[in-house]
Amino acid sequence: MCGIVGIVQQRETKIGKTIIEALTKLEYRGYDSVGIASISDGKVMITKDEGKISEVAEKIDIDSIQGKIAIGHTRWATHGPPTKENAHPHTDCNGEISVIHNGIIENFQELKEELLKQGHVLQSETDTEVIPHMIEQLVKKENQSLQEAIITTVRRLEGTFAICVVSSLEPDRIYCAKRDSPLVIGINSDRMFCASDIPAFLEHTRKVVLLHDDEFVTISSNGYEIIDFNSMKKIVRKPYTVSWKPEMAQKGGFPHFMLKEIHEQPNSLADYIRIDQPSLIKIAEKIHNAEKVFLLAAGTAHYSTLTGENLIRKYSKKPATSIISSEYEAISGLVDENTVILPVSQSGETMDTIMAIKHARELDATVLSVVNVIGSTITRYSDEVLYLYAGPEIGVAATKTYTAQTLSMWDIGLEVGKISGELDKSEYDSARELYRNIPTVIRQTIVRNESRANHISSWFAKKSSSFFLGRGLNLQTAKEGALKMKEIAYIHSEAYPAGESKHGPIALVEEDYPVVFVAPKDHTNKRMIGSIMEMKARGATAIVVIEEGDKDIEELGKWKFEIPKGYSETLSTIPFAIPLQQLSYYTAMRRGCAIDTPKNLSKTLTVL
Ligand code: BG6
Repeated sequence: MCGIVGIVQQRETKIGKTIIEALTKLEYRGYDSVGIASISDGKVMITKDEGKISEVAEKIDIDSIQGKIAIGHTRWATHGPPTKENAHPHTDCNGEISVIHNGIIENFQELKEELLKQGHVLQSETDTEVIPHMIEQLVKKENQSLQEAIITTVRRLEGTFAICVVSSLEPDRIYCAKRDSPLVIGINSDRMFCASDIPAFLEHTRKVVLLHDDEFVTISSNGYEIIDFNSMKKIVRKPYTVSWKPEMAQKGGFPHFMLKEIHEQPNSLADYIRIDQPSLIKIAEKIHNAEKVFLLAAGTAHYSTLTGENLIRKYSKKPATSIISSEYEAISGLVDENTVILPVSQSGETMDTIMAIKHARELDATVLSVVNVIGSTITRYSDEVLYLYAGPEIGVAATKTYTAQTLSMWDIGLEVGKISGELDKSEYDSARELYRNIPTVIRQTIVRNESRANHISSWFAKKSSSFFLGRGLNLQTAKEGALKMKEIAYIHSEAYPAGESKHGPIALVEEDYPVVFVAPKDHTNKRMIGSIMEMKARGATAIVVIEEGDKDIEELGKWKFEIPKGYSETLSTIPFAIPLQQLSYYTAMRRGCAIDTPKNLSKTLTVL
């Protein structure tokens, strides 16, 4: 997820400054490198560097970027680490066509090979850079107009994109095209904007036009023209006036980043599924050949590793153990050259995890990591890395990165099962079929449970403690649900294996005591009924998370969250986590908590 912005205006101004201000409003979309393309004296001027917007703005002489037209980009790296070469904008061989892009081009390798054969010289590791060279090839070699060349190019792109193009060939207009990635236009009488999101130009105009998929737009200083780039039909779309306050706009109209990120999960999981990562098979092979496997993580990331632990044990028949990073010493004596260490970390900067990795490397262990932030410290200590592609997560409490981590753990487990032969081909194929369906199941789950979570939270918010119970794979879900309720609603919540809760914890249960039961329709279902009955017999109020239609458990709960069918049993930990994210969010809302920045917490703990 990156932030893009473009401005074309009638007057000559310090346009670089306005672009940087606009990008700053989009920093929540990505912040590892920044760049601007402007046109002055008939030439494309590119200014870009690695670093956050404020850092890059310091390095470059922003005031020197003058003119009537410019585009700007703040990057969240997907293809290629955050470096100056990989920063956008990217240009063609002659530096006459510059492009910024938000999205993922899935077929960029084949397009890149074609361009190299045609003699193009590409400077970066990014998928984006193929775009200006494809446009150049069509303009220079096939005499297409710039507009035709851009349209021909985007028709060949597979994946997601929102692009802006400025060129010295036609220095008075910005061409844009979009599919799946967002793009909006802001309208002023003498200045036009295009951007990934409204906050970029909200201080300048509230008149907005939203672009739809497969639309191409030409923007000049006094207007815009939209066409469908497949049918080439002109589209008339009137602007509407945005009523949001600026800080609401950064959250896409959601009151908090956490709720926005809960709702982003269908897309973030689709992005993970969309990108083919060769490291996945290498990781699975190294796990298969190892004697011992230790999964290392902290906080929410630790809970996601329980899916990995379960599936690696199930499919490789070898001891895989999830270890909390700060408790690494419990197993450090077992680490050797036949050991795989599998760190899972959203930030890639958690010091507890880094220290454990450094020690394990001294003992010649193999380090295979799962990380969200490309180029982060942990990736530099890893033999292989699997990326989450979840985009920046601003809310301190992990939501979309948790479900992406869990999906990656499942992904690794499935490949280990295929390599070890423990998973026969038909089982593997049907699981892979359902895997592609996960974004749809998550979208339905979010919609199905939003108002229920809000309703139940009015009761839950008055409580001071609670239990979250699960069995097997979904003990992980219970643990993550309890952590969410603690970290954002500040209600003491304890997760426990449902079967174990009668050995002690049940002593705390009294009339109307909240107990959440994570009860998928799998082999644990019948036992969960027993646990619910035990707790209810002592007065507990049961909130059940069930597969839709599970009447046996439904009638035992005072309230229910329902998960639609369509996921494979070993992937239930993803949809079953969603209602618990929503429940903790709405409970925190009712308790007036600082949801995006919970007290005492930090997004990344780079201290021990
Ligand atoms: C905590 C965060 O500080 O660190 C959690 O609040 C996170 O959300 C944990 O799961 C581990 O962080 P990371 O970046 O290593 O996944």
